[in-house]
Amino acid sequence: MLKIGNIELTLPVIAAPLSGYTDTAMRMINRQFGCELTFGGLMLDKSTAYRKVLQKPEYQVIEQDHPVGGQICGTDPEVMANAAAALVDHGYDLVDLNFACPVAKVVRRGRGGAMMKEPALAKAIIDKVRSRIACPLSLKIRRGYDDSPESRLAFWQICEAAVKGGVDAIFIHGRTTLQLYGGQSDWNILREVREKYPQAVLIGSGDLMTAENIVQRLAESGFDGVIAARGMIGNPWIFSETRALLNGQPLPAQPTIMEQYNIIRSHLEMILQHSPAPSGVRYFRKFITKYARRHPQRKRVILDALTADTLSEFNTALDKWYVNYQPPYAGGTEL
Ligand SMILES: Cc1cc2nc3c(=O)[nH]c(=O)nc-3n(C[C@H](O)[C@H](O)[C@H](O)COP(=O)(O)O)c2cc1C
Repeated sequence: MLKIGNIELTLPVIAAPLSGYTDTAMRMINRQFGCELTFGGLMLDKSTAYRKVLQKPEYQVIEQDHPVGGQICGTDPEVMANAAAALVDHGYDLVDLNFACPVAKVVRRGRGGAMMKEPALAKAIIDKVRSRIACPLSLKIRRGYDDSPESRLAFWQICEAAVKGGVDAIFIHGRTTLQLYGGQSDWNILREVREKYPQAVLIGSGDLMTAENIVQRLAESGFDGVIAARGMIGNPWIFSETRALLNGQPLPAQPTIMEQYNIIRSHLEMILQHSPAPSGVRYFRKFITKYARRHPQRKRVILDALTADTLSEFNTALDKWYVNYQPPYAGGTEL
């Protein structure tokens, strides 16, 4: 059981905030596979406080999508606190403060991952937000801004501010801000955090692409949970597979082609409700390329799906590669 404030989860794998991906459709698909805590993508504090961004379809909270976390970034403690309160009013169950985003336009303005250089301001934001909202509060950080000793010191100061400031969970991505998504996530620092703060609720992130990865990292790090990020795009099975392994069961069989098709179809249908074709079809391209990883003819599926512009062309591609798919055989062996 993983507890983040009053949120109780039986699966210690949280669906990461992924800007541009984790809309209601993706969140609901992940829930079908046993994921119990989902996130929307990152929001700017000002537009959240004024509720502008909350009107967008991808930030709506529907009744079946709970508990759900909302994530904000910014540099002004008062505006961050207002944004956090707006998220709670809007139906979010948990507020996450993002001190991790490495995207240039965010960092340039001192937000997201740039906060890893500003431990005093980070503490002021944590304290202000904590005093404003009663719901669970989490913090998403990186292992530092860069690899310098000053950065390492700031990392520990921010951890300290979180633990002392009543943050309910710290999500730690084992890359520095400057590393973006390159190189490897360093899980050693995560073990150090565990040793230093045995009571804190710690959630690890970085390079968790399969259920086996997740189970191994959970065991090695001693962390309370992890977040699945790139590994869950077009791969909601990662949640049910991890649950099976954690329960001591073998890895479930690969989803059949028709099982894959049914999930792809229902994901696409949900998207089309808010974003009709052709834009919904184009938006879905980034998902189908990942869903195709489970298909024996991955490259061909991707090629056909990416050249489909209309819904009818896309359906033809899905029919060809999923509904009517016959694996090629040569002397009884699948090619
Ligand atoms: C396309 C993309 C969008 C992301 N958006 C967010 C975001 O909005 N908020 C956030 O905290 N992290 C975001 N992340 C970072 C992930 O949550 C996660 O920490 C990171 O990808 C490392 O995990 P992984 O190596 O298992 O993918 C994003 C990552 C990717 C690849």
